[in-house]
Order: sequence, then structure tokens, then C-alpha cells
Amino acid sequence: MEGGITLAIETSCDETAVALADAEGCILVSEVASQIAIHAPYGGVVPELASRNHNADLRPIVQHVLAKTGVDWSQISAVAATSGPGLASSLLIGDTTAKAMAAAKGCPFYSINHMEGHLLSPFIGVRTDMPPHTALIVSGGHTLLVRVRGVGDYALLGSTKDDAAGEAFDKVGKMIGLPYPGGPEIAKRAALGNPQAYDFPRSMIDSGDFEFSFSGLKTAVLYQLQKLGDSPSEEVIQDLCASFQEAVVEVLVTKLFLAAEADSSSLVTVSGGVSCNVHLRNHIETEAESRGICSLLARPDFSTDNAAMIAYAAVLRRRKGILGSSLQTDINPNLALADRV
Ligand code: KG4
Ligand code: ZN
Repeated sequence: MEGGITLAIETSCDETAVALADAEGCILVSEVASQIAIHAPYGGVVPELASRNHNADLRPIVQHVLAKTGVDWSQISAVAATSGPGLASSLLIGDTTAKAMAAAKGCPFYSINHMEGHLLSPFIGVRTDMPPHTALIVSGGHTLLVRVRGVGDYALLGSTKDDAAGEAFDKVGKMIGLPYPGGPEIAKRAALGNPQAYDFPRSMIDSGDFEFSFSGLKTAVLYQLQKLGDSPSEEVIQDLCASFQEAVVEVLVTKLFLAAEADSSSLVTVSGGVSCNVHLRNHIETEAESRGICSLLARPDFSTDNAAMIAYAAVLRRRKGILGSSLQTDINPNLALADRV
């Protein structure tokens, strides 16, 4: 295994992120420049604006992480970047920058799948061997249940048929008139509301497979909102948020543990932006405890998009003896994580 420091870049959507990790996968620094304020007036990410801002922000952030840690260019022995899935014009900025750096330094380049970054993120700072487990990844673009056998050894157990969990939070937030992104805003209000106030559907909870669907739930919230008239009180909004969140969490938790049971897993992990959700975290920890199995949740700052998870994935690949990716490896906006079982 090679020593030295890995520099990783993540620009798959609207966060410009850079991190440094040492040869054991310890994160020396992880910086994220959020573009939330730039995209908020549009209620979602505008690809053209995202790539322009990645272009402007990336170089200063790279210089900043080096200055902050006192790491010298000569200590960088690998460069990694997210190559998909994500917005093509955003991915290109990080990918080409990382390739140029690796070529200039003559060091390995690692092309990393963003979802693998999320998948491995619960283990950052915990351990570098990868035990078999059942993983739930819940982000703005994906809801995936994955069987993990080791680094790079993944099988897809199920995914969403329509909206991702985070997407449902964001769309419901938009319907209610909350700022973008809706997830944290809904969670804040849900903490003050009654989760039993509205009986929203738990779509596909009894489907007997590991697939998800959240668009029916979103429509049910829309109909309820229409019934509530023009300006529902803050308490009504809190109840609506709590009931919606309860429905999402119940389905996610139920399916995760069904999958773990089917795979005889003694460990479940949860990652991706929605894993910041405190209600989801509490439910998973309680359920795991009652079943006598372990749960590992990504740290909130490693849950939403960041480059620490990309650096960590590259280090784990390197520790496995994978020497890097070809500089010809292209970005792929639809890059898949794994084949279905
Ligand atoms: O992983 P991520 O940063 O980006 C993607 O790869 O998509 O996830 C962002 C998603 C957004 O949909 C956001 O609303 C959601 O994570 N999110 C939350 C919370 N914090 C972020 N959803 C529910 N509760 C939260 N506390
Ligand atoms: Zn993500």
C-alpha cells in the first residue's frame, strides 16, 4: 500500500468540496462551499449556475485546504474526483481539475462513484476494513438498499420507483412554501408537530420486496394541503411536516430491517443527506438495538455532499491494491453503483 496524502474533489451537484485524507483514511480536512443561497431563489439547482460557481470556487478551496493543514504539494500522492452520478456540467469541473492535477504530479487518479462515497461514509474514522452489512443510502437523488460484502463488492437490493426520499422532502417543502432544500426545514417543523395528525400512505411497505415509492405520499400531502385552505396555521404546518416525515421514516426503517433480516446482517448503515434527519436516526438506532444488531450512521457533516467521503473511498481502494483509474475514464451522469441481485 502506498503512503502519502489523497486529495479529493466533489462537484457532482451544487456543493464544491475538497478534502485531504492520509494513507489510513483519516480525514485531515474537509471543506464544503455550499451554493444553497445561490440556487434557493430558483427552488432547486440550476446546472449552469452550479458549474460556473464550481469553476470559480474550486481553485481557492484547494489552496485553502493545503494552507489550513500545512500540507505541501509534494506530499500529495493521489488525486480523486467524483465521476458520477450527478450533473454533467458540474461533474466535469471536478473531474478535469483532478485529472490535470494527477497528470501534472504524475500520481494516480481515482475516479469515484458518488454513491460509493455515501455508502462508505459511515465508516470514516471508525474502521478501514469493510465488514459485510446492509446499507441504506438516502439522498436528494437516490434511495438505495445495498448488500455490501466488501470494498467494491456491492449488490443492489432495491431502490425507488419514482422520487428519492430527499426529493420527496424537497418537493413537499416547496409545496408548503419552505426555503430550499426542504429536508432540514421540514425536520425542524416536524419536531414540533404531531406525527399522527394525518394518516399519510406508507407506499409499498407491504410489497414484499425492497423497492420504494414516494410520489403517492407527495400527492397525498398536496391534497391535504389543498383541503387546509390558503393560509394554514404554523401548528397545522408542523403537524403536516411531522406526519409526512413519520410516513417516510416508517417505510425506510421497515425496509432496511427487512433487508437486513433477509441477508442475516448483523450491521446496518445509513448515509446520504436524509441520514441527517434526527427522527430517522433515532428510529434506526432503537430498532437495531431491539433486534440486537449494530447500526452505524454517517456523521451529519459526512452525510450531505462532501469530499471526505470521496477521499475515503479512494483510500480504501488504494489500500485494497487498486492502483487508480485511467485518465481516459469519463464522467457518467447516470453512473450506477451496483447490479441488482
Ligand atoms: O446527499 P445529499 O447532500 O445530496 C445528494 O447527493 O442528493 O442529500 C441532499 C438531500 C436533500 O434532499 C435534503 O433535503 C436532504 O438531503 N436532507 C434532509 C435533512 N438534511 C438534508 N432530509 C431530511 N431531514 C434532514 N434533516
Ligand atoms: Zn450525495
